[in-house]
Amino acid sequence: MDNRVIIGGQWGDEGKGKIVDALSDKVDWVLRYQGGANAGHTIKVADEEFVLHLVPSGIFQPEVRCYLGNGMVIDPWSLRDEISALEQRGIRVRDRLFVSSAAQLLMPYHRRFDELKENKLRRKSIGTTGRGIGPAYLDKFQRTGLRLGDLLRAPETLERTAIEKTLAANEILSDFFDAEPLSARTIAEELVDLAEGLRPLIVSGYELLRGVRERTESALFEGAQGTLLDIDHGTYPYVTSSNSTVGGALTGTGLPPRCLGDVVGIFKAYCTRVGNGPFPTELLADDGDLLRKLGGEYGATTGRARRCGWFDLLAGRYAVSVNGMSGIIVTKLDVLDRIETVKVATTYQIDDERVDLYPVRGELLARCRPQYREFAGWERPTTDCRSLTDLPAAARKYLEFLEQELGALIVGVSVGKRRDQMIWTDTGVTT
Ligand code: IMP
Repeated sequence: MDNRVIIGGQWGDEGKGKIVDALSDKVDWVLRYQGGANAGHTIKVADEEFVLHLVPSGIFQPEVRCYLGNGMVIDPWSLRDEISALEQRGIRVRDRLFVSSAAQLLMPYHRRFDELKENKLRRKSIGTTGRGIGPAYLDKFQRTGLRLGDLLRAPETLERTAIEKTLAANEILSDFFDAEPLSARTIAEELVDLAEGLRPLIVSGYELLRGVRERTESALFEGAQGTLLDIDHGTYPYVTSSNSTVGGALTGTGLPPRCLGDVVGIFKAYCTRVGNGPFPTELLADDGDLLRKLGGEYGATTGRARRCGWFDLLAGRYAVSVNGMSGIIVTKLDVLDRIETVKVATTYQIDDERVDLYPVRGELLARCRPQYREFAGWERPTTDCRSLTDLPAAARKYLEFLEQELGALIVGVSVGKRRDQMIWTDTGVTT
């Protein structure tokens, strides 16, 4: 049984949602293991477009069960709204979605801290999604956070605890940020109400995932964000606050390593980043605008314009290597259909030195000048291609180069938003 792990190879937004949706018809479970409602997974099913933030993209396959792992930070207000939005559009969620009692509760004061901290940092801000992710993880590691399991307590206990936590947060709001306090009573009452609705979903992952652990049931691990946003292995401090690389799949579900099968990396055919931080291959002005327009590169969570640039082989090799990716799926190839010359960064120049290995240190990365290899564009639509032989020769040449240089087989190529707009290949693209 092959329990694939789907990991973003870049700075997130690689199109993981579509791939998880496409691959999840063959598994019993889709498991999310890190992050929270900072993720924005866009999936097109028939002619309808859905954007998910917390619920795994496996929810559109009716037989699949979905799980939010202990590694996540979950805003119960967002979770309730997302579930009801899906149900209103005819997707059955109850009895198919489960949440670990050990996942952290993301509270309204976490969002407020996120916003105020970013404002305070001004030009040095991270450019977070404003969803309260960093402050919620801070509470987790300070061991002061609430967990989803706390929603199972008696309503009076939950109400009292929520009031205490919010009052403690209010002290920080007024003393450190000079900001207005939040209404502890309103938050506590709303939380008690939410607990009522969410209670049936909250489970012990240890019990629920027994079949996956014993390998009688299969699972797909759905990563959020991307390798370069990982708290340890990304472009620190311009990162998110969780492990979006492969180790997160273990700690964020409590499953042992033997449960992980192939690690499949998702890479856009070019590169984007939202938020601040170094991005060596970024295209500025008109060139960046063109890719943004062709790719519809606006954040699914915040609507922010994404920074756009060329594929970066050094960063790509780093992601393949850190995660042990054995396969790669290249997404949004069709976005390059109208580009005259496609470029790929093959080395960096730092001062007078040539660099071939990705320099993980942020200050070095900010000084890198990428050296590019150019490819003639194919200037033909690829959206109707369903096999490698349908692709224009120039597009195949580009993919073959990526496959050889990244050192992992390209097992899929996405050429549009719809489920069927995929080329699958078990043996890679190199002839
Ligand atoms: P946070 O995760 O909201 O704290 O944001 C930290 C950084 O990660 C910011 O640069 C965000 O733009 C980025 N980020 C967080 N989640 C995503 C995502 O799902 N896609 C792309 N970027 C993300």
